[in-house]
Amino acid sequence: MKVVTCIAPVNIAVIKYWGKKDEELILPLNDSISASLSTDIMCAKTTVMASPSFEKNRFWLNGKIQCMETNTRLSNCIEMVKKRADSSLEHYNWNISICSENNFPTAAGLASSAAGYACLVYALAKLYKIEGEISEIARQGSGSACRSVYGGWVQWHSGTLPTGEDSIASQIAPASHWPEMRALVLVANDSRKKFGSTLGMYRTTKTSTLIWERVNKVVPERVKQMRQAILSKNFESFAEITMKDSNSMHAVILDTYPPGIYMNDISQAMVNLVHCYNDYKGHNSVAYTFDAGPNACIYLLESEVDEFIAVVNYVFPKLKSVPNSEYYKGYPLPDTTKYVKNKELNVSPCSEGMLKYIIYTRVGEGPSVLVDQKEHLLQQNGLPKH
Ligand code: PMV
Repeated sequence: MKVVTCIAPVNIAVIKYWGKKDEELILPLNDSISASLSTDIMCAKTTVMASPSFEKNRFWLNGKIQCMETNTRLSNCIEMVKKRADSSLEHYNWNISICSENNFPTAAGLASSAAGYACLVYALAKLYKIEGEISEIARQGSGSACRSVYGGWVQWHSGTLPTGEDSIASQIAPASHWPEMRALVLVANDSRKKFGSTLGMYRTTKTSTLIWERVNKVVPERVKQMRQAILSKNFESFAEITMKDSNSMHAVILDTYPPGIYMNDISQAMVNLVHCYNDYKGHNSVAYTFDAGPNACIYLLESEVDEFIAVVNYVFPKLKSVPNSEYYKGYPLPDTTKYVKNKELNVSPCSEGMLKYIIYTRVGEGPSVLVDQKEHLLQQNGLPKH
């Protein structure tokens, strides 16, 4: 029996991927840039086990058995890893059991599939001992997963080859390059049914005219500026491009026919709060970005966290019935009692309970192998421990 357990990070893009030029190969219309967030706080964890006694391949996701036959993205990933592996490996033809889970609620609306597929491909690569570039394989699971294969600041190059071989991710800088960078995920209380990104992107490329301005002109310029902002640790410029690019992605989604709408009134209140806060500070000291959902990811420097959290608590009061331990997740938040409401901050509070919870995290490293046997999610017989 052979077994490997790995963890991989969630990534949040600052230059967004929205729209494919090839649906099958998952080739994006434009380059995108993201940061991988610390696996201490949020990660996908996957165990892959191969054994000559397993009668078939099996896969559990968050405790539920999945149908492998109909999941072409999953089987593509397995096939691509095996194609690169040495077929003389003892376990090459053994069946496998896969067990994967996220340590954060899927309800958080965060890119769980990106972390999940990056983790799966990383674990398979270790199991079948393949070396080198694997972001191209992770891309086949979920486009944005290719960015979670690396830590720190990552660029996914759209590539020009029709085969997609050059549509890969690369690291711009490790997390240690900008150690002060933090992220706050503001999870909105929202029960609407989520509209998948695959269909959303397809409709946008078919019906939006604005997307071509974004893809051909706006993003190529921003990618250069964003790389420069990251490499020179220029937060002011980083923040402006991040917010503009999030707005631009949601604008093309709205320009889709029928239109898509992922941000809600709570998201709009978060946008307003960030701009009011930056006005009061006299410069961009925090930046929002929204994926295909209503939750904001706020990028900010460590020095800004106390004051900004105090303002968030003022504008989005917590329901008194929700205990602090359920509301504040992630790294311990600093004491904010010293900040009293500043009169120059021109924003009024919303009613209680608009946020479900807040996650405090930072930019972190890429996937890793967990060597401790206790970490395996599968028992020796290939069934999940839990
Ligand atoms: O990888 P997908 O298909 O889940 O697409 C995710 C796209 C966004 O999260 C909305 C933007 C991005 O670049 O991550």
